[in-house]
Amino acid sequence: MNWGIIDRYAKSLIKEAGHKIRVSFFSHIDIDSKAHANDLVTNIDRDIERFFVKRIGRDFPDHKILGEEGYGSELESLKGIVWILDPIDGTMNFVHQKRNFAISLGIYADGIGMLGYIYDVMRDDFYHAAKGEGAYFNDERLPTLETTPLREAIIGINASWVAPNRYVEHEPIIELVKSCRGTRSYGSAAIELAYVSSGKIDAYLSMRLSPWDIAGGMIIAQEVGALTTTMKGEKPRLLGQETFIVARPGLHKEIMEKYICLK
Ligand code: IPD
Ligand code: CA
Ligand code: CA
Repeated sequence: MNWGIIDRYAKSLIKEAGHKIRVSFFSHIDIDSKAHANDLVTNIDRDIERFFVKRIGRDFPDHKILGEEGYGSELESLKGIVWILDPIDGTMNFVHQKRNFAISLGIYADGIGMLGYIYDVMRDDFYHAAKGEGAYFNDERLPTLETTPLREAIIGINASWVAPNRYVEHEPIIELVKSCRGTRSYGSAAIELAYVSSGKIDAYLSMRLSPWDIAGGMIIAQEVGALTTTMKGEKPRLLGQETFIVARPGLHKEIMEKYICLK
């Protein structure tokens, strides 16, 4: 497999898709909801996924695609080469703010992350990594992450996990929030993974993410030495919804040991 060719191809596809998204703001956007009233999807999410599926299907017919909007393949395993795509991660931001959303793509070979991309479309910020070759932010190599104690760390967390919820005991999470330097919530798991990878925040956690939210970002994060696991400390399977944490090495242990108590 020539990963260099696939890498160049994927980058140009993502840039083209980003351009399409920016142009879409000049036309009417249809907003729909999926699982519940606040789970938004637009015709642009769908068009962008279809654009990827069509191109990849034409140029790499033996590759599979796992995409949020369902135009790719139905997969029961990650055997073969699988492109895991979120055409717009942060759809609520896309609809309400016209910014703070990203295209997220991870390319896996038999379940091993080979190439990862996060494109913050409106900032034109491109994060990418190839397994074993380091991670880059706008073509500048990202340094390996060093450890940070929790008291000096910024934690990416959505306020829902600080309130009573069905996945995790929320009292320890309140303690986590009180013990760190500050919290942030950007509304796009992919952007939060990119921010951990580039040292803008120190950890990000969520109790419920889908494969396409994290597939690209995990490859980037691993290349800078961040730990990416489920809340049980396991490797995410990337085949359904899972709990998830990405953090600098020592910080991952500190958060997991002291503050995560699954129900
Ligand atoms: C969502 C975003 C959000 C996260 C949700 C995801 P979407 O993805 O990543 O930050 O909290 O769990 O579903 O629906 O905008 O692609
Ligand atoms: Ca998403
Ligand atoms: Ca999405």
